[in-house]
Amino acid sequence: MDKFVIECGARLVGEVQTGGAKNAVLPLMAAGLLVDDWLTLTNVPRLKDIDTLCGLMRFMGAEIDGDPATGTLKVRASKITKPEAPYDLVKTMRASILVLGPLVARCKEARVSLPGGCAIGARPINLHLAGLEKMGATIEIEHGYIHIRAEKLIGAKIYLDAPTVTGTENLMLAAVLADGQTVIENAAMEPEVVCLADALNKMGARITGAGTDIIKIEGVTKLKPVEVEVIPDRIEAGTFMIGAAMTRGNVLIKDCPINYLETLAVKLKETGTTITEEEGGVRVIGDWPIRSVDFRTQPYPAFPTDMQAQMMAMMTISGGLSVISETVFENRFMHVSELKRMGADIKIDGRVAIVTGVERLSGAPLMATDLRASASLILAGLVAEGTTEVSRIYHLDRGYENIEKKLGGLGANITRVKDEAKKK
Ligand code: UD1
Repeated sequence: MDKFVIECGARLVGEVQTGGAKNAVLPLMAAGLLVDDWLTLTNVPRLKDIDTLCGLMRFMGAEIDGDPATGTLKVRASKITKPEAPYDLVKTMRASILVLGPLVARCKEARVSLPGGCAIGARPINLHLAGLEKMGATIEIEHGYIHIRAEKLIGAKIYLDAPTVTGTENLMLAAVLADGQTVIENAAMEPEVVCLADALNKMGARITGAGTDIIKIEGVTKLKPVEVEVIPDRIEAGTFMIGAAMTRGNVLIKDCPINYLETLAVKLKETGTTITEEEGGVRVIGDWPIRSVDFRTQPYPAFPTDMQAQMMAMMTISGGLSVISETVFENRFMHVSELKRMGADIKIDGRVAIVTGVERLSGAPLMATDLRASASLILAGLVAEGTTEVSRIYHLDRGYENIEKKLGGLGANITRVKDEAKKK
């Protein structure tokens, strides 16, 4: 397995480009299953998760084309020969469940593997399934697979007990071709949901309210293929913001979607970080000592759970005590034991972490456990004394494009060491 070796000491300085948002690309690709000609996506990053969904869509009979060098990805589902998502493809990426809604809308029947639990929590999909049942689908679960059927989906009123992001997207993808009106209440308000709704509307769907907690969808009979530009990745940009802040750096983050990062920006300013909008991007200037802040993860627009680990890494070297509550996922503190191996002072009580800032972290061999946790370990490595080695970085490759090049361009001393066994 590849690993990153990080030497301490660099202040991040310079300019870095924000890539397209992984979590926006995946549902947009799934939307490609609703039309029979080329759906073109631009500003698409090169990421493992996107390759995984390409593999799944090809398996189902869709064609995939495009030019990774220009960030273009094209999907054509003129026919879907196998409306199926096998376990082997779903298990590596839970977001594969996003094909469920479009498949049943287009093919009337589908067989999709249950995604199972994952490291950060149980992550059920009961709300996806309950919503589709409300729209008239029949669902059977057998041998680990969801078998879904619906001669015709019918618009329905759906209340989501939790504002699930992929659940909202899945139901929107199903409802656009349903008969009549679907109303999703307590819908997720994340920018990626809005990006999907805008794209579907461009394709001829009739969706209103995306970005609020009530989304209304009037079903239409057909959609047309279009070209869609993917929004910038707020989590990647936020990771660079924290990197600049905690290394006392000075970084211009180009195309930083600061409007989607207001809660993070507020918290970073409380730490003493300066954040200013400039033409083409957002400048982040860090200052020491870092003032400690408390924060609580919640659905958008509150503090994102996908930024919790990175912000915790920053708090480990703050000048005080930070109380961090994780309310979205029940097991999202796996980076804590690794940060503690670097000398961080963190206590966990259920879903609350109490971080007492220490003067310095010390480099250590570390193991990445999930995508965002991996990013936090790299950030910690940038400020830790000596050398930090982060292994299992395949997690990171799922969601950060060329992070070593981007951080290296800002002055970080970070090297990818290829797995010797793989090289042979
Ligand atoms: C998406 C993001 C992920 C982010 C998460 C929360 C994608 C591809 N992934 O994941 O990066 O961390 O939102 O912002 O966009 N829940 C249920 N039943 C369900 C579905 C969800 O109880 O049927 C609960 C989950 O257990 C969790 C909460 O709802 O506690 C939020 O999860 P959800 O928004 O569904 O996360 P994902 O869409 O999987």
